[in-house]
Amino acid sequence: MLQVENLCVAYGQSQVLHGLSFQAGENETLAIMGRNGMGKTTLFKSLIGMLPAQRGSIRVQGQELTQLESFRRVTKGLAYVPQGRMIFSSLSVEENIRTGLEHSASTHVPEEIYTLFPVLWEMRKRKGGNLSGGQQQQLAIARALVTRPTVLLLDEPTEGIQPSIIKDIAHALKETRKMGRITIVVSEQVLSFALDVADRLLVLEGGRFMHETARADTDVQRLKAYLSV
Ligand SMILES: Nc1ncnc2c1ncn2[C@@H]1O[C@H](COP(=O)(O)OP(=O)(O)OP(=O)(O)O)[C@@H](O)[C@H]1O
Ligand SMILES: [Mg+2]
Repeated sequence: MLQVENLCVAYGQSQVLHGLSFQAGENETLAIMGRNGMGKTTLFKSLIGMLPAQRGSIRVQGQELTQLESFRRVTKGLAYVPQGRMIFSSLSVEENIRTGLEHSASTHVPEEIYTLFPVLWEMRKRKGGNLSGGQQQQLAIARALVTRPTVLLLDEPTEGIQPSIIKDIAHALKETRKMGRITIVVSEQVLSFALDVADRLLVLEGGRFMHETARADTDVQRLKAYLSV
């Protein structure tokens, strides 16, 4: 579904991603684990096209996306939930969700969105800025899902969010997957969340993958060692 090969990204002279290669299959959830500054956001921004790749290729369902602008990548099936959520404070919840439909033919919010996130239905008339952090995170995910992506990218969705809402987010991601035909790539520092949602975990360190494990085979102590400072 998603194939990344030899992805190299730099900020000016500063090389941050050193030839990353990985794949994620249909109905697979992949967690990219890594401490602060290891390159998670850089990876996601380059996947969605906010940062150019110096080298390498990004393909979704065999289609080469590497040279396309972000909105074209969205029409090819990618969706992105940025770190920090980036919702529009002065727009209502419903209007925020609709912004995800900007480049699509329909302006209708699919019903399953509110099934996944009942709290957003209750709050659909409220301003985005008045939601709690956890609700805003759910809103950001809802906005990304309206285009019915084949590949959903989530950058640190649990950052700064309380445990009960983290569970809601994990639940929503698992339900999204049950709806079928989606690949989820999520960056994380919270190991319990990653083990809850992901089939496979990759550890990013200094812009390189240092470790890979299937969830069932995870050596938790080893993973914790990678994530501790
Ligand atoms: N705009 C930028 N210009 C120059 N260097 C940058 C820029 N953004 C990030 N970096 C550097 O790139 C490296 C990777 O940063 P990145 O934001 O991708 O890490 P991260 O894994 O997402 O961290 P966090 O968990 O804190 O979000 C860091 O060394 C960071 O300082
Ligand atoms: Mg980041």
